[in-house]
Amino acid sequence: MKKILIQLDTDALPSTFDRVVAVDAGVDELFSYGGVTPENVETLVHGAIFTRKPSDLMNTAIFVGGSNVAAGETLLKAVKKSLFGPFKVSVMMDSNGSNTTAAATVIAAARHLDLSNTTALVLAGTGPVGCRVAQLLISQGATVRLASRSIDRSTATCEMLSKVVNGAKLMPHESQTEGGLTAACQGVDLVVAAGAAKTQLINTDQLKGISTLKLAIDLNAVAPAGIDGVEVMDKAKDRFGFLSYGAVGVGGTKMKIHLAAVQSLFLANDRVLDTAAIFELGRSLS
Ligand SMILES: NC(=O)c1ccc[n+]([C@@H]2O[C@H](COP(=O)([O-])OP(=O)(O)OC[C@H]3O[C@@H](n4cnc5c(N)ncnc54)[C@H](OP(=O)(O)O)[C@@H]3O)[C@@H](O)[C@H]2O)c1
Repeated sequence: MKKILIQLDTDALPSTFDRVVAVDAGVDELFSYGGVTPENVETLVHGAIFTRKPSDLMNTAIFVGGSNVAAGETLLKAVKKSLFGPFKVSVMMDSNGSNTTAAATVIAAARHLDLSNTTALVLAGTGPVGCRVAQLLISQGATVRLASRSIDRSTATCEMLSKVVNGAKLMPHESQTEGGLTAACQGVDLVVAAGAAKTQLINTDQLKGISTLKLAIDLNAVAPAGIDGVEVMDKAKDRFGFLSYGAVGVGGTKMKIHLAAVQSLFLANDRVLDTAAIFELGRSLS
């Protein structure tokens, strides 16, 4: 039976990136829909679950994507609500690459650090990627300082994450001021910069000042780098006495996870590949 992937994208034009990965993952037929909302998704989901016998539904799956991660989260909830009883298909959510990127970042960190014994600073931890990186780090037992230009935004994100991960060792920080950033950097083993493209979050002098630093990961691919001195192609590159990864250095693992996640949708009809599940799948590959 043909494997059908139904791409539900919250943007008007379904992502070509997600379409290419679906084809490379071996999907036989790709149905792509743009402008999908919680209000119009039920009919699309019902069309997917009522056509094939329940025992054949593992050959149909749904991918939720789009550039707006919050909209993707809401759409995923609506998709899950439209599935019931034996009428289920597996679903993956990776709006803007947020889940696969966060998983690849934390897998890169785990190659070099014992996360349960790591203190990490996540700069721009309020964004979709940074917030997920923080979630996965605390789920692995790391102590996380989540920084933002605004202490109110970092506090709100920490409160949200504390509800997602039990016993989270998590502290909000402000990183806009020199003093705030210095305090956030004190004694950390790992720095992850998850700021918007083209935004530098920490300079080389500030970085060199962290005597305990073992690993720095920058996810911003568009110059200037989020971590001054880290280059986009870095992959466990020795710099200034610590190792570094740039966005492309993390990107190879991200692509492997994305491909494997789409393929795994067709192994059962009841999988929900969200942040935690995509990370677990990524770990099983490494
Ligand atoms: N390597 C890959 O495969 C891959 C895949 C996806 C994304 N990415 C990259 O990962 C990074 C994070 O993605 P995202 O979607 O989470 O980013 P985002 O939503 O655009 O921004 C993340 C955070 O950056 C901070 N920020 C925004 N503008 C800023 C500015 N002018 N100066 C300083 N901080 C600023 C904001 O935090 P506060 O306002 O709270 O300070 C915001 O929450 C991006 O650089 C993206 O391009 C890489």
